[in-house]
Amino acid sequence: MKFFVDTADVPAIRELNDLGFVDGVTTNPSLIKKSGRDIIEVTKEICDLVDGPVSAEVTATDYETMVAEGRKLAEIASNVVIKLPLTLDGLKACKTLSNEGHKINVTLCFSANQALLAAKAGATYISPFIGRLDDINIDGLELIEDIRTIYDNYGFETEILAASIRTVNHISDCAKIGADVITAPPAVIKAMANHVLTDKGLAAFVADIEAAGIKIL
Ligand code: G3P
Repeated sequence: MKFFVDTADVPAIRELNDLGFVDGVTTNPSLIKKSGRDIIEVTKEICDLVDGPVSAEVTATDYETMVAEGRKLAEIASNVVIKLPLTLDGLKACKTLSNEGHKINVTLCFSANQALLAAKAGATYISPFIGRLDDINIDGLELIEDIRTIYDNYGFETEILAASIRTVNHISDCAKIGADVITAPPAVIKAMANHVLTDKGLAAFVADIEAAGIKIL
């Protein structure tokens, strides 16, 4: 399973990258706004930092402008993935830009039928939003399962990029289902390392090391 970091915060990406946890990065207009940076400038900096794919989202909602913006975003670096919304215009732009050889992440997916259309439009990644479905009492993980089944039934190569991840359990559940990629905020990825029994066990070891004066160096 690949780990993408869902942020435009460069120091946070660098910290996780140094830990070896970053296979790619996803951004969106809200994350760019939060960073306070210029979209082109910050995307370039992230692309220089990370070897893997970096999703950058268009701002337009009409086909022509989305295609023009997508081409401009793709010029930033060879690892840019153009992020397009799951609308009919977005799917048409996906077809055009993927035919040109660009990698596309179709975002704001909330149903299996939407995911089916994105695969047919040539999307490299489909981004189903788990947390936002959970927010309205619909099981987001069930959507990941449905898309996995449909893509496997027909051999679609579009990768399932589980997004809107809010908890560490979302990540292990996505791994059990077989999502290809998760994208999560840095804090959620770091929290995967936490366990109360690890803390308790380490505290006991440290106490014994001090009591016995155990030294290696
Ligand atoms: O990048 C899209 C997605 O991960 C957003 O998550 O928490 O704003 O629903 P969230």
